[in-house]
Amino acid sequence: MSRRNKVYEGKAKVLFEGPEPGTLVQYFKDDATAHNNKKRGIITGKGVLNNRISEYIMTRLNEIGIPTHFVRRLNMREQLIKEVEIIPIEVIVRAVAAGSLSKRLGIPEGTPLPRSIVEYCYKSDELDDPLVSEEHITAFGWATTQDLDDILSLALRVNDFLSGLFFGIGIRLVDFKLEFGRLYVGEESRIVVADEISPDSARLWDMVTGEKMDKDRFRRDLGKVEEGYQEVARRLGILPESGPRDLKGPKVMQ
Ligand code: CDP
Repeated sequence: MSRRNKVYEGKAKVLFEGPEPGTLVQYFKDDATAHNNKKRGIITGKGVLNNRISEYIMTRLNEIGIPTHFVRRLNMREQLIKEVEIIPIEVIVRAVAAGSLSKRLGIPEGTPLPRSIVEYCYKSDELDDPLVSEEHITAFGWATTQDLDDILSLALRVNDFLSGLFFGIGIRLVDFKLEFGRLYVGEESRIVVADEISPDSARLWDMVTGEKMDKDRFRRDLGKVEEGYQEVARRLGILPESGPRDLKGPKVMQ
């Protein structure tokens, strides 16, 4: 880890210079924060699990033609990614009311939404990632109208893919957050999915019991946090059960 130059350190991940120009190494930590950094902790093994879960999802997205920054996993905690210019917007896609939407609008958690709802938040720790509209995004130059068209269509495609993937393994995808980056190829640039997709950035509920398998276990002190993440990895078939060669892929639930 120390052999590389650190480019950026966030709450749950560190970025290092990559082996070639235009690449970075994304290192997944066990650190967890919630409520705008007021709650901090360590979830043992989280970084290893999120590295694998995000690898699995980003690989499938790349395969179905949804461009992402992901290149390949390097080891237990690191993956090689393409360097992108991060668009300072968090894109949240919701199928079921929970979290800040429930609080803001007084809709009980667990209420199915009449259609998928996409929200944008401005990435700013000082301001606590405020909800913003497309008007703010284009007026302040965080992204262009064309970027937003691309972002919305990619977000909805990711939503379709993820909801089907998780449905197949008995998990209800309640909501998730995406980040996007601008990837420069020569003179051209295009928008790609960046950051991570993991139980840190999605709400995942067991379809039968409603049990939470995501960061809400940490945020709300529900206990068995690592077990929740492990169960997601196990159902995706990426938790080696008897050694690293024993990876079977998703176990479809009847
Ligand atoms: O998590 P909280 O209730 O504060 O916010 P939310 O707007 O209800 O979060 C919606 C989804 O986006 C959840 O799956 C969060 O885990 C995720 N999220 C995230 O990954 N990072 C953030 N800074 C905010 C939300």
